[in-house]
Amino acid sequence: MKPQVDLVIFGGTGDLSTRKLLPALFQLHRHKLADKLHRIIATGRATVDTEEFRTTVRENLQTYLPDSGWSEEVWNTFHDRLFYTTIHADKVSDYECLGQLLEKSQAPGRLYYLATLPSLYGEICQRLQAAGIVNAHSAVVLEKPLGHDLQSCQDINEQVAQVFPEQDTFRIDHYLGKETVQNLLAVRFGNPLFSPMWRNTFVDNVQITVAEDIGVEGRADYYAKTGALRDMLQNHLLQVLSIVAMEPPLTLNAGDIRDEKMKVLRALVPINAENARECTVRGRYASGAVNGQAVKGFLEEADFQSADATETFVAIKARINNWRWAGVPFYLRTGKRLSRRYSEIVIEYKRQPFSLFSNDPNELTNKLVIRLQPEETISLHTLNKKPGLTNRLSLQPVELHLTDESRSKGDSYDAYERLLLDAINGDQTLFMRRDEVELAWRWVDTIIAAWEENGTVIKDYNAGTMGPSSATALTAVDGRSWYE
Ligand code: BG6
Repeated sequence: MKPQVDLVIFGGTGDLSTRKLLPALFQLHRHKLADKLHRIIATGRATVDTEEFRTTVRENLQTYLPDSGWSEEVWNTFHDRLFYTTIHADKVSDYECLGQLLEKSQAPGRLYYLATLPSLYGEICQRLQAAGIVNAHSAVVLEKPLGHDLQSCQDINEQVAQVFPEQDTFRIDHYLGKETVQNLLAVRFGNPLFSPMWRNTFVDNVQITVAEDIGVEGRADYYAKTGALRDMLQNHLLQVLSIVAMEPPLTLNAGDIRDEKMKVLRALVPINAENARECTVRGRYASGAVNGQAVKGFLEEADFQSADATETFVAIKARINNWRWAGVPFYLRTGKRLSRRYSEIVIEYKRQPFSLFSNDPNELTNKLVIRLQPEETISLHTLNKKPGLTNRLSLQPVELHLTDESRSKGDSYDAYERLLLDAINGDQTLFMRRDEVELAWRWVDTIIAAWEENGTVIKDYNAGTMGPSSATALTAVDGRSWYE
């Protein structure tokens, strides 16, 4: 039985906390799901007191809670749970103040949520330990990005591990908290209809698209040093890929699921200087129009120092060398300032060996389309007879919607609600294990090294399109196309 916990958020006044964590905690409180959560102690460098902090949180919640999420009544009880204490990561006395606050608590457990610069994670953990405020019921949550390459990721993991054992370390990838990503497990392993066909005998290719219409917003400094490959593909897309491609786990326990995801990452064929040209595309948005609004190009958006080496779009043809997936390309793409915001997995099935129908259009194939956002839907694209007397046997596409129509709006939740709840309850299933993150970095590092060695050019694309034309060519050379 997990004891009650105090949640301590480092970076408690930052962007993530403001937009995501506090709204998610408010919603958990509203739904009375946070019974294991005692207090929420935000920390940051700002010198404000708890009352001032509560006033700011109240305003922010009104801005960032989803439609109709604000409730004065819920706030009246939520606000008693909120506390604030100033912490400078390197100041011993600040940790002592936090210790005094924690000592007064009736909750034995402590969940430290690190939403600061990852370079501070090691130091914060060590200072928490030195201040004597890591007890047997303590755990830590680490936000991404975990480093900027394998070495820096290993360094962070090593430093954190000196204080928190692996079973108490929760590495967040918020894509794993999205409802449809979890639904994938249900669809794959709950339906005998799909499981036998989830393999290279039937599947022609798999596409994973995470398209954003926003630019780099207020994060230009971070993004200029990061780029789309490190910011999105190393984590979100590879996590989704490993869930799509994994073997059935022995059980639904965290360890068994993570063991199977690991095997997928191990089977990814390295992309090196020899094959990087045909398997990768880097892009950067130039000015254009998104959703009818004129927008600047990436390089004009802010005063970047070295951003001309940063991609805002990446597309990759990945291969998984194992019994199930040999020969099936996995096309991955993600980018900013694309035509619209959506994330989707497409399983495209092979065509019939030959067609009996005179009008059988080549692009009409069976597809399972799993939409993660903005809507959470699953649809099966099939072919039917065109109805009517005039049409002899000719085909038309029909979409079967597998989404639960009875699902009410109230059932939808933000990924952070799911993940915070799981972390509070000590459930690691939807978090990344150390070896997974490190292996993902190893694969990505090889691509970055190949780009450097080949001097890979970043291709411009107009904001409001779906990336550079070479991304279209990535699939076209294989006789395929992106599903859009
Ligand atoms: C974050 C990236 O991890 O995910 C951001 O750092 C990106 O650059 C965000 O905008 C996208 O998340 P979502 O859930 O809006 O697709």
